[in-house]
This record gives sequence, C-alpha cells and structure tokens, in this order.
Amino acid sequence: MSSGTVIAIAIPVLIALAAVVGFTSLRRRDAQGLGHLSRETRKRDAGAMTVTAASDEAKELERSVALARVTADVAIPEPALPEEWTPPDPEEVGVTRRQFLNRASITLMTMGLSAFGAANIAFLWPRPTGGFGSKVKIGTISSVNDLISSSSPAANFSYFSEAQTYLQPFPMDSETQQAAEAVYSGAILDGIKMGYVALWQKCPHLGCKVPVCGTSQWFECPCHGSQYNRVGEKKVGPAPRGMDRFPVIIDGDKVIIDTGSPTQGPPIGTDTTGQGLEGPHCA
Ligand code: FES
Repeated sequence: MSSGTVIAIAIPVLIALAAVVGFTSLRRRDAQGLGHLSRETRKRDAGAMTVTAASDEAKELERSVALARVTADVAIPEPALPEEWTPPDPEEVGVTRRQFLNRASITLMTMGLSAFGAANIAFLWPRPTGGFGSKVKIGTISSVNDLISSSSPAANFSYFSEAQTYLQPFPMDSETQQAAEAVYSGAILDGIKMGYVALWQKCPHLGCKVPVCGTSQWFECPCHGSQYNRVGEKKVGPAPRGMDRFPVIIDGDKVIIDTGSPTQGPPIGTDTTGQGLEGPHCA
C-alpha cells in the first residue's frame, strides 16, 4: 500500500475520532450544568439530613426523660428562708474609712487649736525679768565708773549690751545741772543729778546702732550722719531729736537701768554741756 493511500485512510479516521471525543465532552458538560448538583453539594445535603435525624432523636429522648421526671415521685425541696443580718464585729472589721477620716480630722483640729492656744498664752505670758525691756542691773557704781574711765569702747564712754545702753557721765557742776533742769524732768533728771545719763543705742532717725567716736568724743551715726554730743544731744544730721534715754536707778551700790521706760531725747538745739568737737570725726 502506498503512502498516499495510508494518508488518505488515516485523515478520515482521525477526523472521525476527534468528532467522537468532542461530542462526548459536550454531553458531559451539559449533564453537569443543567439540573445536576455538584459532588460537594450532594455530600453537604447528605450530612444535613443525618443531623436532622439525630436532632429528632435527641428531642425524643428529652421528651421521654421529662415525662419520666413528672411521673416519678421526686421530692421538691422547700425554698430556704433568708438569714437574719447580724452586724459584723468591729474588732474583726478594724477601722473603717469613715472612722479613720473622722478621727484624723478631730486629731488635726485638736492639734491646731492647741497650737493656737499655746501661741496666745506664750504671747500673753509676762516676759522674764532681767533682759532688755525690763530693769537691768549693769553693775556697781565703782565698776561702772571704772569702765567710763577705760578706753572701751572709748574714754568717757561705757557700753552695756544687755541694756543696749551707753551709760554716760553727766557733768556735776552747777551750770550744767541748771541747764539740765531746764530741759529734763522726772526719772531722767533724777539720773542726771546722780551724775549719769543712760542713752539708748538706737538712732532716733531710722534706728541704726550709733557708735561712739573716741577722737571727736561724740556719737556719730554711720547711716545718715547724725551726730550727738557725749550726753546724746543732737549736734548735726537728719535725726529729729537727741538720743532717746532710760531712767537710771541707784539701789545701794548697784546701778540699774530701766529699759522698760524709754523717754524721747531732747529737742534739736538742746546743749546743756556746751561740749564741742574734741578731735576729727570718725564717720
Ligand atoms: S539712722 Fe542714724 S542718722 Fe539715720
């Protein structure tokens, strides 16, 4: 058989086979798409049918058990009565928050009132005697005179820190005593007649401590330049008067300065001793 014959036979055979295969596949696709369920759907439906049957069986079982309960002679317990409330033991419970806050506020209020009362009592309590503001014993007449004649703080000046006072000698001649009587009075004049004048260290201008100047023999305030002679009478500066002073008391041989009774210094222009500058100024 020649090759041309073979080809002539093979071509129609192949065409026929291809036609058969195509027709078969078309039929299968039609069968799957029209009216036929997929394999998964069919499997799910089968499972659902099984569950429905099982739930029917379970319901039937429950119904039979409930029927058996109703028909059986089962004792139903009486409902229990509520227990009567008894308050808890405070010792067991301890301190409640309300108790704690009440006690804390009462304690704080008591402490505050106590402190306020103590401060008031301390304010009203009489000051102890012996310090500044009361009668201060500064020594004997001889010890005071010794200090006046020494060079501390300067010759003719004596300072007593416990009384914040310069105790100065006052000339005892009749002329100065007469001049003093014209200006001073009361306890201040009594001290002058005994030969002393007690000058408060505080400057009557603005309150600086006034030091002495050994060369000028005056008090010279370094703050604003007020100057006073040896018995505290104002010479120059802005001070409104002479140095303030205290009464001097001689008790036996004791010298006492009453720092609780200050007296204002003499007015500007007072010059009972006529003491001028005795040397250069310090301030
Ligand atoms: S305080 Fe002494 S002069 Fe002013």
